Amino acid sequence: MTTTLITHIGELTTNVATPADPCGTRHDAAVLIADGRIAWTGPAADAPGEEERRVVDARGRAVLPGFVDSHTHVVFGGDRADEFEARMAGQAYAAGGIRRTVAATRAASDDELRVRLAGFVAEMQAQGTTTFEVKTGYDLTMSGEERLARLAAEVTPEVTFLGAHVVPAEYVDDRAAYVDLVCGVMLDAVRPHARWIDVFCETGAFTPAETERILRAGIAAGLRPRVHGNQLGAGDGARLAAALGAASVDHCTYLSDADVAALAAGDTVATLLPGVEFSTRHPYPDARRLLDAGVTVALASDCNPGTSFTTSIPLMIALAVREMGMTVAEAVWAATAGGARALERTDVGALAVGMRADLVILDAPTRTHLAYRPGVPLVHAVYKDGIALR
Ligand code: NIG
Ligand code: FE
Repeated sequence: MTTTLITHIGELTTNVATPADPCGTRHDAAVLIADGRIAWTGPAADAPGEEERRVVDARGRAVLPGFVDSHTHVVFGGDRADEFEARMAGQAYAAGGIRRTVAATRAASDDELRVRLAGFVAEMQAQGTTTFEVKTGYDLTMSGEERLARLAAEVTPEVTFLGAHVVPAEYVDDRAAYVDLVCGVMLDAVRPHARWIDVFCETGAFTPAETERILRAGIAAGLRPRVHGNQLGAGDGARLAAALGAASVDHCTYLSDADVAALAAGDTVATLLPGVEFSTRHPYPDARRLLDAGVTVALASDCNPGTSFTTSIPLMIALAVREMGMTVAEAVWAATAGGARALERTDVGALAVGMRADLVILDAPTRTHLAYRPGVPLVHAVYKDGIALR
């Protein structure tokens, strides 16, 4: 069996927690990879010798788990740069812009969408993301949502059915009929490709009652729930997510004390998406408040053409540290182990023996450089299942 030893790691983030250090940090460390899994980690001087193996000298660089981006919308056509430009000039974000992307997505062929998607996947990998989720939600017809889920499933096992993104133009006068469609034949069509169901629970999208009905239909069909909630204003999304045992409630920009308490009392992860606040000028979510209350926090990109057109997890880490009250260690944990929790994955997000050998070698001596050197491409190498992608 050929193994790979990555040695002379200046700072290794394992996320194998100790009471003093949730990131399980080691210095002058090495990682042994066998069969695509982590076989051993420890001091470089103690690295197991013997057998045939490839040795990668990290030359003092930092190594950390590959990023887990638990929230993206990267199957779509067109873009909405004009809306971004108008927002930066003072206009407010409106969820109705989603319908423009719906029109562009419906007009795109399978191969056009595949090429676009492959481009985003390459972008994510180049920036250290090794696991990512992809949502449907930019077609909003039965066959179209099935198509988006099928294309997403070609690149990731983490596919989310978001037929309840907005009510499409053709149903604005009969939203009950659209909710019936989402809970009925559309769910049946998408189900074979998806693992998750999500609803945009927000004024202008879906009400709490509609959200609950749709999530319960998804759960009955065998999907696990997640929620877009509390993005543009106060609302019931976070509490509903907690009550239904959702894996995650995403955005969490406007939370009441009762919302925070409800999240703290359960296992639902709060996934924060600071690319959205960057691009909409809403206030950044208060990660400190959630962490201090004992809520598990994840960071994700929300890459989409409306509110966050970036795949960069290093940017999310920099924003979380600079604007949201997170320490570097908390932000890096949230973008790796936190993302894994939000996707209910136990095989990624940490470099523990037996887990997938998904890792990033930075062109920097510490993970702190991810926030300290914002905007600089610091990813030196990326391994997925023990194979070097770059
Ligand atoms: O996560 N919140 C809903 N969906 C996206 C925005 C989609 C769009 O504007 O195209 C989000 O921010
Ligand atoms: Fe989103």
